[in-house]
Amino acid sequence: MSIVHVSGRFDGKTALVTGAASGVGRATALRLAAEGANVYALDVNAEALAETADLAAGLPGKLVTRVTDVSSRDECFAAVAAAVAEFGGLDVLGNIAGIARAEHVLEVTEADYRRMMGVNIDGYFFLCQAAIPHLLERSGNIVNIASNAGVMGLAYSVVYTMTKGAVVQLTRSLAWEFIKTPLRVNAIAPGGIETNLVANYRIPEDVDWELVGRATTPRPMAQAEDIASMFCYVASDEARNVHGAILSNDTGLTAG
Ligand SMILES: NC(=O)c1ccc[n+]([C@@H]2O[C@H](COP(=O)([O-])OP(=O)(O)OC[C@H]3O[C@@H](n4cnc5c(N)ncnc54)[C@H](O)[C@@H]3O)[C@@H](O)[C@H]2O)c1
Repeated sequence: MSIVHVSGRFDGKTALVTGAASGVGRATALRLAAEGANVYALDVNAEALAETADLAAGLPGKLVTRVTDVSSRDECFAAVAAAVAEFGGLDVLGNIAGIARAEHVLEVTEADYRRMMGVNIDGYFFLCQAAIPHLLERSGNIVNIASNAGVMGLAYSVVYTMTKGAVVQLTRSLAWEFIKTPLRVNAIAPGGIETNLVANYRIPEDVDWELVGRATTPRPMAQAEDIASMFCYVASDEARNVHGAILSNDTGLTAG
């Protein structure tokens, strides 16, 4: 799918986007730059992040990359400071980086548990903490990528669902705490998206497939650009009335 331009929608704006080396993060970073934003693009994968920078060449907005592990509080604060130093301020924070695993809950190792909490919760929280003072200066906004897994139970993905439920509550509670300011905070809750995350998702053979089947729909999976499109709407001034929302983008998965 080619990148859609809403010409100039983000002219003069700066966005910090995580997970920008792949999938939703890359599609969002490129679309923001296509629509005029200067983008500070973070990811832990240096090689793939450099590919994102190559893809952004020639777009109206400037895209600058920084290799960052969002599970580190220090790296989150340093990345926000560097983005503000680079572009003079911050208008949009896109918390997109995430990891997922499928496994029997009794087989989750402590290392895997802590890694998922670190990337999917700590990263989101500390980037919000670091970014909010700058976003307040520019009447900016935060878009967190949650998941259908944050609003429904999923067998064999207990830890992942815990992290995405936390993203939902992070979004709502921040929205309420800052409701008397111009800051907007929202989340998008996608269903299945054809990205590396799904390609690498290995469900153990010995699970109860009836339980797994309850978490699918007959409709085709989304493309990363479908989520980037909603992201750019929510992050833009067109969505000025949207605050504290958990926006489904899941082909009806959570409707039934
Ligand atoms: N793909 C799906 O079906 C699906 C569904 C619902 C929600 N989501 C969510 O969408 C978001 C994007 O996922 P995606 O599908 O594009 O996956 P993806 O694997 O294509 O991209 C995720 C990116 O996050 C980066 N990342 C991982 N750990 C990191 C860390 N510690 N620091 C910085 N970057 C890190 C990866 O390197 C990768 O580039 C995630 O939050 C995911 O949970 C995905």
